[in-house]
Amino acid sequence: MAKTTELTPPFEKTYYYDGRKDRLMVSAMHPDSIRALKDFEVRDEDVYVVTYPKAGTTFILEIVDAILHRGNIDEIKGKRMEDKLNLIELGPAPGIEIATYKKVSTWKSPRQIQTHLSVDQMPPQVFTKKPRIIFVTRNPRDCCISLHEWHATVKFLEPCEWDYFVDRFSEGQTIYGCWFEHLADWMKLSGRDNFLHLKFEDIKEDRQGASETVAKFLGYDLTPDEMKRVVDHTDFNNMKEYMKTVTQRDVFLRENRHWQRKGIVGDWKTNFTVAQNEKFEEYEKRKCKEYGIDFTQYYTKTPKK
Ligand code: A3P
Repeated sequence: MAKTTELTPPFEKTYYYDGRKDRLMVSAMHPDSIRALKDFEVRDEDVYVVTYPKAGTTFILEIVDAILHRGNIDEIKGKRMEDKLNLIELGPAPGIEIATYKKVSTWKSPRQIQTHLSVDQMPPQVFTKKPRIIFVTRNPRDCCISLHEWHATVKFLEPCEWDYFVDRFSEGQTIYGCWFEHLADWMKLSGRDNFLHLKFEDIKEDRQGASETVAKFLGYDLTPDEMKRVVDHTDFNNMKEYMKTVTQRDVFLRENRHWQRKGIVGDWKTNFTVAQNEKFEEYEKRKCKEYGIDFTQYYTKTPKK
């Protein structure tokens, strides 16, 4: 695995994919598994949930899982963490013997598969077949604070000092690279009838509406009672309790740490200093120009503290 001397603590559990500095990956996402994806057999019935890290992957996956099970939450309880968060690039890694892409090849359809990868790293059949692709984005500043906390939460990363972390994030030097590039990359699929873009902020504001949109997109016509169970299940506090029923959590999480942290919009405002936000704005401007993104189309500017 391509390690470099620059990947000193707290980034020693990461590597540069193909030696590329814009492709910093968690070592648990094995490069051989990512390379093997070029031969991965995609099915038209698959659902791919695509997110940048900390954009609400577990949030949307629970909505999707609950819809696929028509609100029968008992059916989705007690899963192993690696089967719940089945990132297609995950494993093999400590505590995870079989890479996800191998494991899910034996699963019944419809399979729900997640990823943070970029388009060019994905199985090519994702784009030639007709699986459903749900792309969820979240304000990058909130992803930044959540990812910083994640470093202290998950065993596959190491805690990191905030000032250093936010500096790296504002240079696209944290795991999975630049938020803006990830957005521009996946939004190229916009307009396809098998592609749905949702925002964490909108799901948070109207879980019922978002769940109905997802159900319709997946071709599921739920009764009001089934839909109510989906919506109740994905309430922040309910999900926090429910996630305790997931087994094998200790492979992923440090003691007394949870996937569900605050689950709010705009948490960055209490963490970014004015100087940090100015640096981020400069990065945002540069990257939006580079990738031809109108940021305000996605996230209107929130006032600085
Ligand atoms: P915070 O760290 O800001 O609280 P991911 O699943 O991609 O790792 O994203 C995790 C983020 O989604 C965390 O954000 C977590 O709290 C939030 N989240 C998870 N479930 C949620 C829910 N049901 N409602 C709102 N936010 C949720």
